[in-house]
Amino acid sequence: MKIAIPKERHPDETRVAGSPEVVKKFTDLGFDVIVEKGAGDAASISDADFKDAGATIAKDERTALKTADLVFKVQRPIIKDGLNEVAMMKKGALLLATIYATTNRKDVDAYAKAGISAFAMELMPRISRAQSMDVLSSQSNLAGYKSVLDAAAEFGRAFPMMMTSAGTIAPAKVFVLGVGVAGLQAIATAKRLGAVVTAFDVRPAVKEQVESLGGKFVDVDPEATKDAETSGGYAKEMGADFLKKQHQVTHDHLKKQDIAICTALIPGKKAPVLITEAMVKDMKPGSVIVDLAVEAGGNCPLSKLGKVVTKHGVKIIGHANVPGRLAEDASKLYAKNLFNFISPHVDAESKSLKIDWDDETIQGTLLTRDGSVVNPALTGKDQ
Ligand code: NAI
Repeated sequence: MKIAIPKERHPDETRVAGSPEVVKKFTDLGFDVIVEKGAGDAASISDADFKDAGATIAKDERTALKTADLVFKVQRPIIKDGLNEVAMMKKGALLLATIYATTNRKDVDAYAKAGISAFAMELMPRISRAQSMDVLSSQSNLAGYKSVLDAAAEFGRAFPMMMTSAGTIAPAKVFVLGVGVAGLQAIATAKRLGAVVTAFDVRPAVKEQVESLGGKFVDVDPEATKDAETSGGYAKEMGADFLKKQHQVTHDHLKKQDIAICTALIPGKKAPVLITEAMVKDMKPGSVIVDLAVEAGGNCPLSKLGKVVTKHGVKIIGHANVPGRLAEDASKLYAKNLFNFISPHVDAESKSLKIDWDDETIQGTLLTRDGSVVNPALTGKDQ
């Protein structure tokens, strides 16, 4: 069985869907791993590192993909502007990538047409067994950490309280909006840097988690958020009344904060607006907002994808692909997620792949098989 790991070609993508550790694990299981030349360059993983781990280096993408039974990618294949990465794959190949399938339906149809079995890693079910396969978690955790460092880099003051002979510096006040995987890591990172941290999320279970990290939970409306969590562990979209109340509380609170880290997302929907322009106007000059939700429309309407802008004296950071700003770690964790997903389906004796198509993690992520689109999230059969 052959695994191909091509170089990522999406703009802003620095990660690679493999690591020397994972190459070694797959070669130990009897797989041949082919890595495209230079695939790990932007993640500081050299061809020599991959080769030492047992991979073969292919001179270009076409050579890497043409005989592969499995194709590992970070981003979905590109099918535009004269480049068609799907056409380079052989019929029957398995493709693993973050596809954002519900918003890229045309691409999914192209996988079906090409006879490829595509797995959307972002659709991994949130069950305990699948935690080690969850690419959203592994990448969000790094994004949460980096968001605080990005804020610190733009902030004109220090984070910790400092008592010096020249005077005392007050600690920075950090407000984290949305406390999922990224938000929790943002809280932990801001605390480590010495900030005073407050946080808010619509899911009530979060309050205890915030407190256990030494943060203070900002209560908006405990009654209204009682049922705000889906059975899958995600947030539900909140109604207009709740959002109005949340805006009032957030507005008052933000006036006293230095840094806001926004991480609030609703799967498959536009991110909720949590910091309006009126709120930004009332923030202290020199304050910093990091909008980790910028790729989903943003929690702050003033954030700009891929840019740091200053509005009303507040710096608003909208970096694209924040996990890619820690490309080496992000690639290694992503690659490990793929290994943890595939390895239970490897038959040790025949050293071949025997996918259990009834497995919950397979059924949850599988988009296309035998020329058809099969995922209920796309066929509407789970409605
Ligand atoms: P996410 O990235 O979809 O959203 C980030 C956060 O935004 C969530 O905590 C959500 O509740 C919050 N949010 C949404 N609307 C909001 C609003 N209007 N105001 C404030 N906050 C809002 O979520 P993420 O980080 O991927 O995970 C959510 C939960 O799922 C976490 O508690 C995590 O522990 C759990 N999880 C479980 C896994 C498993 O069991 N395999 C794997 C990964 C996460």
